[in-house]
Amino acid sequence: MTALRIALVGCGDISAVHLDAIAAHGDAELVAVCDVERSRLTAASQRWDVTPYPGFESMLEAERPDVVHICTPHAQHAAMTTAALRRNVNVLVEKPVATSMADAQEVQRAAEGGSAIVGVCYQNRYNNTSQALRSLIDTGALGALRGGRASVDWFRDNSYYERRPWRGTWAEGGGGVLINQSIHTLDLLQWFLGEVVDVRGQASRLTLDDPVEVEDTASIVLRHRGGAGSIFQATNSYIDNAPVMIELLADRATVRLENDLTVTYTDGQTLFVAADGIATGEKAYWGLSHERLIDDFYRHVRRRRPFWIDPAAAMETLRIVTDVYAQSDLARRRPGRWPGASLDRVAR
Ligand SMILES: NC(=O)c1ccc[n+]([C@@H]2O[C@H](COP(=O)([O-])OP(=O)(O)OC[C@H]3O[C@@H](n4cnc5c(N)ncnc54)[C@H](O)[C@@H]3O)[C@@H](O)[C@H]2O)c1
Repeated sequence: MTALRIALVGCGDISAVHLDAIAAHGDAELVAVCDVERSRLTAASQRWDVTPYPGFESMLEAERPDVVHICTPHAQHAAMTTAALRRNVNVLVEKPVATSMADAQEVQRAAEGGSAIVGVCYQNRYNNTSQALRSLIDTGALGALRGGRASVDWFRDNSYYERRPWRGTWAEGGGGVLINQSIHTLDLLQWFLGEVVDVRGQASRLTLDDPVEVEDTASIVLRHRGGAGSIFQATNSYIDNAPVMIELLADRATVRLENDLTVTYTDGQTLFVAADGIATGEKAYWGLSHERLIDDFYRHVRRRRPFWIDPAAAMETLRIVTDVYAQSDLARRRPGRWPGASLDRVAR
């Protein structure tokens, strides 16, 4: 059996994690990379000895890969995913699936209309502690879930945005701390507690300065189907990158996930699950589970089975984020949407 032919678009920061995982995978062969920034394109194509393409659609046409990994700025995810699906290319897209619900629905429709599958990169669902907690919930060991709280207290100042200006704009980033950094934790919170039926929240820019447009801080109160309530706080205005915290209150236990998982049952017993690796540096943000998600996605491609973290699953979290933006003064002042005229536009 020949290995899956893989292409990647967006040779920036996160691409290194994808490219390493592809290289280490026994059933994958990287065949092409694409970027509009020539130096990054050349560096990646030379590093991995594959064909460079400055244009995404030209790459798809020429290579007809089995899978394309999309690692570009947020506002391009939806158009690139649908362009690949139209050509029957399976897509692994970085989070978020899109920057608006309308675009995400278009991706979902494109996926439903063809045989190729889409996976969205919420790799923290593959952390051993996340998996352990999810199975405790599924087996009923915790009893009914009553609520929870989560926080992401990190540090990103203006210099972070100067390095990659798109991250600071509504047009290309689609938002700040909510849609970029803390979306993984929001995704886990709703994955554990269930579908969100009511969202009250505010996103504000408290510490970042112009030209950064997007929020650095957000507070959200959520109501889940079945009645559980949760609160979520996220900021890029702390002095350090603190460990992400999720706490759940259930009838039979209190759960705390902060790197490790600690479950304290009402009968006095405790369960401790150590995180199977504490990430440091930039990986403290990315986590260690990209490889697992990529491996699982390729298995689904091989079996022609839909992937479980698909556009519909990703929309559960995107809906919360966009609801908060709709309620926030800062986001209402956002300039026009990114025109998205051509996926093959050349470097600025
Ligand atoms: N899952 C995670 O934990 C995680 C971590 C970091 C980043 N990400 C996501 O990965 C994506 C990329 O983030 P990043 O930090 O690597 O950004 P980045 O700016 O470092 O890289 C993006 C790359 O895309 C290229 N690009 C832009 N427009 C293009 C186009 N039309 N065609 C081809 N290439 C184009 C840019 O030149 C750049 O090299 C984002 O969606 C981000 O949220 C996910």
